[in-house]
Amino acid sequence: MEVRSLTTFIGAEITAVTFEELRQPEICGPIHETLHQRELIVLRDMAITPEQQIELARMIGRPVPLGGQYQHPRFPEIAVFSNAVRNGKPLGVARVGNFWHQDSSFAKNPAAYSMLHGVDVPHTSGHTLYASACDVYDRLTDDWKARIDGRTALHTYTKRIRITQDHIGLSVAELRARVEAEYPLTEHPLVKRDPFTGRRYVYGAPECLDRVSGFDANDNDAFFRRLNSLLEDREHIYVHRWRPRDLALWKTATTYHASTAVEPGQVRTVHRISIAAPDS
Ligand SMILES: [Fe+2]
Repeated sequence: MEVRSLTTFIGAEITAVTFEELRQPEICGPIHETLHQRELIVLRDMAITPEQQIELARMIGRPVPLGGQYQHPRFPEIAVFSNAVRNGKPLGVARVGNFWHQDSSFAKNPAAYSMLHGVDVPHTSGHTLYASACDVYDRLTDDWKARIDGRTALHTYTKRIRITQDHIGLSVAELRARVEAEYPLTEHPLVKRDPFTGRRYVYGAPECLDRVSGFDANDNDAFFRRLNSLLEDREHIYVHRWRPRDLALWKTATTYHASTAVEPGQVRTVHRISIAAPDS
């Protein structure tokens, strides 16, 4: 097995390891530790079946089915994200996460880890961008750190309110109330501490936050702009260009990520498992 850092701020690539070897605690243990230290790991060339992916997820914790219509037909633990169409029907969820987010931050208890297997992936588009929430915190000025210290923030399922026929004729306030009732806001501390590294990190991305508690509209706006500029800094983004059979595994809280568009004509299918920490 070989391990190398993908960047200075996030990620480790693991090569020359097989599924059979991963079953051995003396191999799996150090990989687990690398995940906790580096926030994201990418195992290359993992030619695994859906059953084997679930088995790997169980070594980390407890798979949590996402449910919904794009659940894998035979394995509820797996969600299929795909732009492929088979027999006139979409194979999976076509377009997700094309903005910076921490998985399921709108939930009260988001699963601790996300695992994606590149089943059928192009290398030239449909990348996943990763940034470390610890690194984002470290780059805030002391003034900003003091201003957000001890605050909470309200997370929202989506800021991009989807207008449906139901909503026509409602005022903006009514529309907002309706959406908030359908997707209640969830409060989380804005700054958290990673239990494995002890590092502080920002929990919340502008696209997933309604507001910071106690901030007025100007403070809020200034903070979101600051956060966006830190997230958009190319020097602090790892661009994962997928290769077939890549297995990416990350800590959902400390890892921001975003997907990029898939070129027209390219097919992209990945299998995702959300994994709760074993003790939760
Ligand atoms: Fe995601």
